Amino acid sequence: MKTAITEMFGIEHPIIQGGMHYVGFAELAAAVSNAGGLGIITGLTQKTPELLAKEIARCRDMTDKPFGVNLTFLPSFSAPPYPEYIAAIREGGVKVVETAGRSPEQHMPALQAAGIKVIHKCTSVRHSLKAEKISCDAVSVDGFECGGHPGERAPRMIEGRRRKAKYGVVTMCIGGGMGAAGMNMGTRFIATKEAPVHPNVKNALVEATELDTRLVMRALRNTERVLKNKGVDQLLEVEREKGGTLKIEDIHDQMAGVYPKVMIDGDMDAGAWSCGMVVGPINDVPTVKELIDRIMADAEAIIRKRLTGFLDGVEVLKPARAVA
Ligand SMILES: Cc1cc2nc3c(=O)[nH]c(=O)nc-3n(C[C@H](O)[C@H](O)[C@H](O)COP(=O)(O)O)c2cc1C
Repeated sequence: MKTAITEMFGIEHPIIQGGMHYVGFAELAAAVSNAGGLGIITGLTQKTPELLAKEIARCRDMTDKPFGVNLTFLPSFSAPPYPEYIAAIREGGVKVVETAGRSPEQHMPALQAAGIKVIHKCTSVRHSLKAEKISCDAVSVDGFECGGHPGERAPRMIEGRRRKAKYGVVTMCIGGGMGAAGMNMGTRFIATKEAPVHPNVKNALVEATELDTRLVMRALRNTERVLKNKGVDQLLEVEREKGGTLKIEDIHDQMAGVYPKVMIDGDMDAGAWSCGMVVGPINDVPTVKELIDRIMADAEAIIRKRLTGFLDGVEVLKPARAVA
């Protein structure tokens, strides 16, 4: 399958693994790239630019395919040294950066001067148009059902569709199709053999249903979709008590340091960690290659058989085929 995304990034399949805190290490990024997708190392999980440089070198030892680095620009107490992170990316020879959160505008000159292509991940038509204006190479639209920070608004099918209907697709990359040139997946890649996280996390994803995610930090307009657990219940209790007066300090204990506790120690009640509603249909822990091959085979079957079948009138009486 050739799309603007496969051609732009020199990859075989139009599947991108979004940056994931404490999940997007070299092992996962390399596995995704080796399987023909675009793996992404999560820049800020590496506490310093020097550590990111080492992670990039580790990834390069594991794959000779292209891979990228995620740089998340979120409100935080102490801003990380982004120019130094960008230098590590440039010196590591990485040619793709996924940005998310705040606009990457300030850093675009440095990224572009290094010949780095920028995929900006956002959650609304408005922000994707801004990304286009500041010359991002691709935009990726996360919807309200997604893991991570899914915005305050609409499911990605609706946002993606609205953008396409209104402005035509330049090069966008959203899950679930709708005219996109590729897809971005997060949660699904955690339940794979190669994801370097505690087995408890993979088991929790297999067991959870689509009703088991919760939204936290809505009052702060920094909404995050997370998997429900005891820590999240406590956090939501604090949020209910504080209502509109909630401040980030009020939930510091339930938010700070949770990722290593969950992803490394397997403490599944530690607090808030991102998880999409897609957790519902996750029922197994395949290798990354099995997963990507399966998605591509399903996509091909849908395009070749079902969609053309509708046109030919032969598909009408058959029940719809379930797609994992
Ligand atoms: C555990 C986890 C951690 C994430 N951390 C980040 C992050 O640090 N930066 C970022 O841009 N996106 C992050 N995301 C969002 C993903 O890159 C991706 O956009 C999102 O998961 C897509 O939705 P899906 O999980 O429903 O596939 C995270 C997602 C998960 C599940």
